[in-house]
Amino acid sequence: MTLLSETHQENTAVTRQNTRPHIEVHDLTMAYGDYIIQRNLNFTINRGDIFIIMGGSGCGKSTLMKHLIGLKPPAKGDVLIDKQNFWKAPSAQQEEIKRRFGVMFQAGALWSSLTLAENIALPLGEYTRLPKKEIAEVVEFKLALVGLAGFEDFYPSQISGGMQKRASLARAMALDPEILFFDEPSAGLDPISSVRLDHLILELSHSLGATVVVVTHELASIFTIGNNSVFLDAESKTMLTTGDPKILRDESHIPQVRSFLNRGEI
Ligand SMILES: Nc1ncnc2c1ncn2[C@@H]1O[C@H](COP(=O)(O)OP(=O)(O)OP(=O)(O)O)[C@@H](O)[C@H]1O
Ligand SMILES: [Mg+2]
Repeated sequence: MTLLSETHQENTAVTRQNTRPHIEVHDLTMAYGDYIIQRNLNFTINRGDIFIIMGGSGCGKSTLMKHLIGLKPPAKGDVLIDKQNFWKAPSAQQEEIKRRFGVMFQAGALWSSLTLAENIALPLGEYTRLPKKEIAEVVEFKLALVGLAGFEDFYPSQISGGMQKRASLARAMALDPEILFFDEPSAGLDPISSVRLDHLILELSHSLGATVVVVTHELASIFTIGNNSVFLDAESKTMLTTGDPKILRDESHIPQVRSFLNRGEI
């Protein structure tokens, strides 16, 4: 029983202890053809982190996420998932690792011709041997988790943008992933819906114990949910720092990082 409160403390605290690496990035260079996007990336995402990938538009945040989820191979360097070198592993092992990921892409669209229930059932049908009835139960449970109980038979066009985001979240969680990746989850949402989504992400991270990796440049989100981060710089084409964004805001000696994290409300 004490475990629960300890876990909770760990997740809320800036000073997290007993950290265990979940994803390690070693000397990563990312490129499209000859065009280098970022080089010399070195950072660690620990188990249970809500890890923010931040930086200005076009610096390579989405590209980095694609390297972490096994969609784009590095030009140089390694990505270790639970100490397994993803890009040097045989493809069967890569597939096994990828099953542990839940992903919500930047364009994060649901299939418009499918109901919410069908959208969430899709990965379950593809990757599990669950019978229909159990799939329906999982779908119902996941929709309830994101506050969409009763919306099973709605089509994406029949619900609001914020609800669509939450449904995409439910779909990313369909297979009970160990690591959730979200690219700009609150983009296009009004401030209230985006605060709600942040709280949902926090709640899910605490209750599921998953590691969460979020691409965002929104300060409110960064400080509400993030306990660790990496800052990518487009100009120098490398990371400038890594660590708790609140500490970086107050203590970083790097001018670009300080000004990014202290910029005023627009
Ligand atoms: N498929 C691609 N082929 C070639 N270049 C690409 C491709 N995808 C992205 N790029 C380039 O890589 C750079 C980084 O793009 P990326 O989408 O990773 O940035 P980002 O930080 O996610 O930007 P944003 O904040 O606008 O989403 C950009 O210069 C972009 O033009
Ligand atoms: Mg992007």
